[in-house]
Amino acid sequence: MDIFTKATAKMGPLGQYASQVHGYFTFPKLEGEISNRMIFQGKEKLVWSLNNYLGLANHPEVRRTDAEAAEQYGMASPMGARMMSGQTDLHEQLESELASFVGKESAYLLNYGYQGMVSIIDALLDRQDVVVYDSESHACIIDGLRMHIGKRFVYPHNDMDCLRRQLERATKLAGTTGGGVLVITEGVFGMSGDLGKLDEIVAMKKDFNFRLLVDDAHGLGIMGNTGAGTGEHLGVQDGVDVFFGTFAKAFASIGAFVAAPKEVITYLMYNMRSQIYAKSLPMPLVVGGLKRLELIRTKPELREKLWTISSALQNGLKERGFNIGNTESPVTPVVLSGDTSEGTNLTHDLRENFNIFCSVVAYPVIPKGMIILRLIPTAVHTLEDVNYTLDAFSHVKDKLDRGAYATGKIVDVL
Ligand SMILES: Cc1ncc(COP(=O)(O)O)c(C=O)c1O
Repeated sequence: MDIFTKATAKMGPLGQYASQVHGYFTFPKLEGEISNRMIFQGKEKLVWSLNNYLGLANHPEVRRTDAEAAEQYGMASPMGARMMSGQTDLHEQLESELASFVGKESAYLLNYGYQGMVSIIDALLDRQDVVVYDSESHACIIDGLRMHIGKRFVYPHNDMDCLRRQLERATKLAGTTGGGVLVITEGVFGMSGDLGKLDEIVAMKKDFNFRLLVDDAHGLGIMGNTGAGTGEHLGVQDGVDVFFGTFAKAFASIGAFVAAPKEVITYLMYNMRSQIYAKSLPMPLVVGGLKRLELIRTKPELREKLWTISSALQNGLKERGFNIGNTESPVTPVVLSGDTSEGTNLTHDLRENFNIFCSVVAYPVIPKGMIILRLIPTAVHTLEDVNYTLDAFSHVKDKLDRGAYATGKIVDVL
């Protein structure tokens, strides 16, 4: 069979819908300045789907710094991988500032969070090591684990009794292989907004010998008193042995970092293949990263504004009877019942008739009969945006309950 046959025959679990939804529900083009209002297909929309939590994407100081750094260095500099010819004082400065921001001894920059995480896991685990991880971990964790040829145990999302049982099994096994045990979870879970139970996990260190790796992509900059993440929020940042953060969310940029004890970071620098064999992070991203970190440290009002908007949105939804799951972060899932066609019709109605742009997830990504609209409040939203959205949501929920979206087919958007 031709290797290309799958491109037309199967397309994969999401690709099978491409001909019906491409450009609208998948790969939509949002244009204009990144903010609470952007242009979609020529019309202004109120946007609730960007992880621009603190509104830094379009902050004037950020924009100026990015532009000046691009002017001064261009995008090519430094040329080469960090290990060969891509090392600079500014890369090191950002690493040292990030390390102290998240309360760790050392940090190392990663070109992308996804690739970085795959390599962190690959480098940390040998064949004899045993890994225990949350079942709802992000794809970068799952894909990192695919490279692990030793044993792995999964526990159902945030099920601490099961984690304990898996730690018992892992500890026993590691005793026979001579390896160590690594636990991996997220800080803030990006789809559901609930938190990894880091306090309970760290408390298990009394009974088991393991290290904890936390992906805090959605917690960095927004959780905790200083924005140091979910570990700070739950009072156990010291118990997080390896902290992972990305610049793709609150930092509103590209790149990521890992922070840990100095000897672990040195080990990772010399063993993470996705970083050793890839070009260094471009200078404008490094200089821009320093500026973003400075703003996150010195402008707590951005975080306060984010939480004001998040609380208003989440309390308003709850008061109107919406199910928003167990979120304890700004990530706001709105869980509705309906089939995929109802999910797309409702989202289309919100987008076209209420000018509200938010992301929707339905079967086959989540179980049949469930629709999840995901709202991401940010510091650039207003309370008027929240009230307008609450009214619109009540309206479409009423229509959903009356069966008005039950056409049996995915809305024609092309
Ligand atoms: C939980 C989580 N981890 C890792 C990543 C990957 O980060 P990046 O976009 O920097 O590759 C993401 C998404 O961006 C994420 O949501």
